[in-house]
Amino acid sequence: MASVHVDEAAGSDLTGDGSQQAPYQSLAFALFTQGQSANVLVRKDPTIEYAEPTQSSLKKAKKGADGLEKKRRKAEELAQQAAQALNDERDKRERLLEGSKKVQLVEDASLPSAIRVKILNLKSLRGKRARVLGWVHRLRSQKDIIFIVLRDGTGYLQAVLSGAPARTYEALTLTLESSVELVGTLQTTPEGKAAPGGHELLVDFWRTLGAAPSGDDAFTNRFNEKSEPSILADLRHLVLRGENASSVLRLCSAMLSAFRATYSEHHLIEVNPPCVVQTQVEGGATLFKLDYYGQPAFLTQSSQLYLETCLPALGDVYCVQESFRAENSHTRRHLSEYTHLEAELAFINFDDLMNHIETIICETVDKLLQNETAAALIKQLNPSFTPPARPFKRLAYVDAIAWLNEHGIKHEAEDAEGNVIKDADGKPTMVDHAIGDDIAEAAERKMTDIIGTPVFLHSFPAELKAFYMKKAAKAPGSGDNLVLTESCDLLMPGVGEIVGGSMRISDIDELLAGYKREGIDPAPYYWFTDQRKYGTCEHGGYGIGVERLLAWLANRYTVRECSLYPRWPGRATP
Ligand code: 4AD
Repeated sequence: MASVHVDEAAGSDLTGDGSQQAPYQSLAFALFTQGQSANVLVRKDPTIEYAEPTQSSLKKAKKGADGLEKKRRKAEELAQQAAQALNDERDKRERLLEGSKKVQLVEDASLPSAIRVKILNLKSLRGKRARVLGWVHRLRSQKDIIFIVLRDGTGYLQAVLSGAPARTYEALTLTLESSVELVGTLQTTPEGKAAPGGHELLVDFWRTLGAAPSGDDAFTNRFNEKSEPSILADLRHLVLRGENASSVLRLCSAMLSAFRATYSEHHLIEVNPPCVVQTQVEGGATLFKLDYYGQPAFLTQSSQLYLETCLPALGDVYCVQESFRAENSHTRRHLSEYTHLEAELAFINFDDLMNHIETIICETVDKLLQNETAAALIKQLNPSFTPPARPFKRLAYVDAIAWLNEHGIKHEAEDAEGNVIKDADGKPTMVDHAIGDDIAEAAERKMTDIIGTPVFLHSFPAELKAFYMKKAAKAPGSGDNLVLTESCDLLMPGVGEIVGGSMRISDIDELLAGYKREGIDPAPYYWFTDQRKYGTCEHGGYGIGVERLLAWLANRYTVRECSLYPRWPGRATP
């Protein structure tokens, strides 16, 4: 019989197999696994030769082995009991499911007919019968009662299934996110209990309309809050069903309605400019090009040029249109496609423009806070929101450069080719801002967050801005060579730039010189140029990034959370 080895210092009862190379650690364990008559050799540690154990140690070890055997039997017994319990439970569930197939629910025609209603309008039906259709948002089973929180897009409703309605096959196999029809009597929530809307539906008839999967494919197994961002992006269509994601979209809808109401009060008319265009607005570098029946065309960067042409036809105008930017920006405020709220006003000056932007934003925010539903959404998403105080701070570009330098906010130095200059450790060299520098996103964000209120940054150098911008009459507080524009960006704490606007060149010759300077062929812009030919006027306008404004209002970390199906470099699904 082969010997079984025990090394009391270097052996292991966990990984050992009793061989010389892998000895056990305890004699008791060796006897327990190999049998009490095994031929065992023992050593205290690897420096000593293996020898037969003494009689007394063998006797002690046998006792130990008996103890281990007892433990094993007990564990086996418990495992058997657990398996049995599981089987019993499974049998019971199967019997229950089998039995449940016999429970047939029929809508009781003798009861008063149930009124089909959206959850939002349930209040007037308290004490009456109602029929509600929606999705199972939450589900809890307790003995013979099933609690459902139903969602129909207008609100949430607690429903209680007991008796036969809780014993049908559909009831026992109901899953989250299934669509269902519930019929029952609406009662005020009992004293001391809370439910959305202050009432609950006592269901007497119901049915599943579309069952959602259970098991691995169940809704709750697809993602959770901690899932990878790429998984959440792939499953955006399911993520949208969540309370926060849907509240952001709901607030977006309320915000756009409020904007439309405000514009209407100020006599601006909504128009719908095209998305497919053959002209650029904000520079060729960010254009998405496409083949349009064999001709080059682009996805619009801004509807501004079209809005300008509407002024003589309709007066002041605005639009809510998608804009596209082929920017390789992965920041939390850049999208490749975003919703652009743009407006254009005739016969105004630069001061009027900034006053107008401030008025429209503040009146829209006031409307939202006065609207019970919208105010509740803001409170849910951004509990500490307070409307911005007026007037908004105004900071000229040249003063902003001085402000940044006074506050030690530097930017990365670049060489003539625009490459970041790095020091010996590979870190970017940071330098003070100078007049003529484009204020980068990081510096702008730091400045906005320190100031802590909305700021109009205005009068940017012409060389940093688009061809259509009107030149300022005089460069305030700057060198004579500096040409400034009547342009403004509105910056909000936490987000940065949410609005970009300017007065436009109204003189035809100045515009033609602008095309030339930027190397733009004026031919495709004939319609835009005509605006200056047939009764020109001083005019200006702006574009609001809807997702950015929403990120500010709803305190979201990124504009990606504020877009229905966000697009960024490499992402165009779902
Ligand atoms: O400053 P921008 O580029 O201005 C224009 O397009 C003007 N033609 C608008 C006009 O005067 N009618 O863009 C305006 C706003 C920005 O302030 C920002 O809020 C938003 O559009 N925006 C973006 N939002 C998300 N992702 C991007 N990539 C954005 N680019 C601009």
